[in-house]
Amino acid sequence: MHILITGGAGFIGSHVVRRFVNAYPGYRITNLDKLTYAGNLENLRDVEACDNYRFVRADITDGDAMLELFAAERFDGVIHLAAESHVDRSIANPIEFVMTNVVGTVNLLNAALSIWKEAKEGRLFYHVSTDEVYGSLFDEGLFTEATPYDPHSPYSASKASSDHFVRAWRDTYGLPVVISNCSNNYGACQFPEKLIPLFINNIRNSKPLPVYGRGENVRDWLWVEDHARAIDVIYHNGKHGETYNIGGHNEWRNIDLVRLLCSVMDEKLGRPAGGSEKLITYVTDRAGHDQRYAIDSSKLQRELGWIPSIRFEEGLRRTVDWYLENPGWLRSVTSGEYRTYYRRMYGG
Ligand code: NAD
Ligand code: DAU
Repeated sequence: MHILITGGAGFIGSHVVRRFVNAYPGYRITNLDKLTYAGNLENLRDVEACDNYRFVRADITDGDAMLELFAAERFDGVIHLAAESHVDRSIANPIEFVMTNVVGTVNLLNAALSIWKEAKEGRLFYHVSTDEVYGSLFDEGLFTEATPYDPHSPYSASKASSDHFVRAWRDTYGLPVVISNCSNNYGACQFPEKLIPLFINNIRNSKPLPVYGRGENVRDWLWVEDHARAIDVIYHNGKHGETYNIGGHNEWRNIDLVRLLCSVMDEKLGRPAGGSEKLITYVTDRAGHDQRYAIDSSKLQRELGWIPSIRFEEGLRRTVDWYLENPGWLRSVTSGEYRTYYRRMYGG
């Protein structure tokens, strides 16, 4: 079994690569990543010497390169995570999101079809997507797999579009596919532009905590290793052609989460209780800011037996510990030091 994992040097991808490399020594795992600002091979130091692991630096927007790679490697499966993933960046630079998330996904679908056309048995294209494709909830209800798509940001529109293309390749060409749509992840190795690692880093450095609007938006948080485990379960046991929602049943208003994070940080840094909260600064709201996300993952729980493994307070503490124990990782990704290193190592 030779599986291509795209975006494996990123946050979630690195947890998925580690899980597959360690759990399936009989599989060959190829990690394909462009190493954008968000891709960091440091995340995979512990598996890079494993015999069943290989890294390829490539750009999924390069269709010819994808066709050549698939023709040479004859992958049996693809787990596709490579994407531009940050909503605020998509507002500033939407074209990059269309290129990577839409064109890049179509290139991979094409490349997979080119080698699986005659023999689809045992093959699978697994597309990792987001709950943001469903749009925004207000007070009640949960996103189910049947919720109509209603994306609002360039990021979520690009992910929604990529989901539609995956289903088009299923329906038109019979490509074996599966899609999962997950809620907000947190944990080790998340780039410090996203809420939790950004605020951990700012609290460490006694910098302001920019809460958008009034902090009343709600997100459903899931421990990243639980997401990686869900991907494993769906890859191996999910029904081809289906969609599975993945979520933590763990809704938090941003301001409540930030207050909890402040108190954990005060405790871990030995600062007086309430000190970090003074850093909270309300700033102009994100344009098109979705009010609430909340996932109904009962299909995944019922059909495949997956459930989240740890409570949020515990996961948040472990996350804080990881960032405090890895100041070098934080320093290098915020200073751009690692990108200079990559340019030297890999060019580009
Ligand atoms: P990330 O930004 O941390 O990592 C993305 C990875 O993709 C990076 O390693 C980057 O170098 C790589 N990449 C970007 N453009 C590329 C290109 N053109 N060619 C090859 N590689 C490229 O993202 P993440 O948070 O780990 O998200 C991974 C996937 O999971 C994405 O598809 C995202 O939409 C989805 N997702 C994320 C969350 C979340 O909370 N972070 C939740 C649900 C779904
Ligand atoms: O729901 C899944 C999605 O979760 C993924 O598909 C995305 O890739 C991922 O980035 C995440 O999107 P969000 O926009 O929800 O995550 P972010 O960490 O950017 O923001 C979380 C909430 O916190 C959101 O309501 C905006 C708010 N926020 C964020 C930042 C960065 C702030 O108030 N201040 C900030 O500085």
